[in-house]
Amino acid sequence: MPSRVKPRVFVSRQLPGSGLDRLRGEAEVTVWDDELPPPYERLLEEAGRSEALITLLTDRIDPPLMDAAPRLRVVSNVAVGYDNIDVAAATQRGILVANTPGVLTETTADFAFALLMAAARRVVEGDRATHEGRWRTWHPSFLLGQDIHGATLGIVGLGAIGLALARRARAFGMRVLYHDSVRRPEAESDLNLAFVPLDELLREADFVSVHVPLTDETHHLFGRREFRLMKRTAAFINTSRGPVVDEAALHHALRSGEIAAAAIDVTEVEPLPADSPLLDLPNLIVTPHIASASVATRARMADMAIDNTLAVLRGGLPEHCVNPQAAARRP
Ligand code: DGY
Repeated sequence: MPSRVKPRVFVSRQLPGSGLDRLRGEAEVTVWDDELPPPYERLLEEAGRSEALITLLTDRIDPPLMDAAPRLRVVSNVAVGYDNIDVAAATQRGILVANTPGVLTETTADFAFALLMAAARRVVEGDRATHEGRWRTWHPSFLLGQDIHGATLGIVGLGAIGLALARRARAFGMRVLYHDSVRRPEAESDLNLAFVPLDELLREADFVSVHVPLTDETHHLFGRREFRLMKRTAAFINTSRGPVVDEAALHHALRSGEIAAAAIDVTEVEPLPADSPLLDLPNLIVTPHIASASVATRARMADMAIDNTLAVLRGGLPEHCVNPQAAARRP
């Protein structure tokens, strides 16, 4: 009997953990082995012969690519966010899109809180001062920051990660305000959170942390007006997506003292260009999109993306599918 031809899967980077071996048992797998993303042309070529793509947030999956991929059944992103994929176009073409929610919630909230603490207590500035020989003595007003306990945190976007951050903040004795398009009455009573309009949150919070997905509505949600509303002593934290913030406005706010500090894990263009004016600001911490980067979490994300892919190759739906309605459109 002729052996069944295995479906082809293109994986756009080496993934941590042993999940790829499981995938190889059921599919012909090509892994892009470079540290940098495959060029778009290569992705297009691979999509053209693959049943599944396992992608990262650096891979643009757009309508021309989907049109060049007649066999493509699933795009499985190794991320909870999927703004790199045109989901509406995928749905129209019957291509399922999967993501990795849940597994990175606590790890990302840990990191958001780490950024909050680092910005509040000027940890990075202190480290730089020491390394650069500027620690000359103990001085009562050297590198003074803001207290975290007793301060007010404003969370913009109370999804799973926002909620996990709220729990950490409550354990540190913070008052927590939130703003979202929907209210979470259970979280309000369980964690003593107060829902407020966005402007009120910006005026009241000592720390503002952003946890919204990137959509047309949230693009440049934070601009000149929003930073002007914040306290001059406030710190701004972003672990969501860079384009949620107008970076020129953030630069102005930090340089002019409209806000005291910011700590961001995401930027409008990634990686942040080496000549970005943001890098001249001593009161800004920028990390390279690593909020979910713990050994255990990245392995779980990879496993989940592989499981999502295998589910489709076996004829089912991914457990974490953002457009299950696409299944009905498959020719
Ligand atoms: C995501 O999953 O969307 C993060 O930005 C990367 O972990």
